[in-house]
Amino acid sequence: DPALIAEGEKVFKKCSACHQVGDTAKNRVGPVLNGMINRTAGTVDGFKYSADMVAAGTGGMIWDDATLHAFLEKPRAVVAKTKMAFAGLRKVEDRDAVIAYLATFAE
Ligand code: HEM
Repeated sequence: DPALIAEGEKVFKKCSACHQVGDTAKNRVGPVLNGMINRTAGTVDGFKYSADMVAAGTGGMIWDDATLHAFLEKPRAVVAKTKMAFAGLRKVEDRDAVIAYLATFAE
């Protein structure tokens, strides 16, 4: 849905202080977010994750619609000691939009 993706691009402004997407994206405060959908948590090459995020991934957590909604709503409810210092997106429609936007960036 192009309208949802366009909305997600606006929501991503809240993420872009720390995250990059697209061909020229680099790890910064947060990891590059290309290819996140259906990816194991904590596995972007060259990014130094919290121990809890690595443990989530080795425990089998995959970024799908459900886990992304939960993490983006309240990061610490999903990964207790995550170093993602972000309060979360309270509105479900903002989360839907930014997830649709992320889905447009392949690995
Ligand atoms: C991790 C998305 C905002 C810093 C992550 C991950 C996702 C994500 C999906 C997991 C990556 C992985 O497992 O490889 C988002 C989205 C945001 C947002 C969609 C906006 C709605 C922010 C902000 C910051 C930040 C504002 C910095 C203040 C980080 C850091 C990690 C991370 C440091 C690694 C966490 C850890 O190792 O525990 N983010 N993020 N993020 N994000 Fe964000």
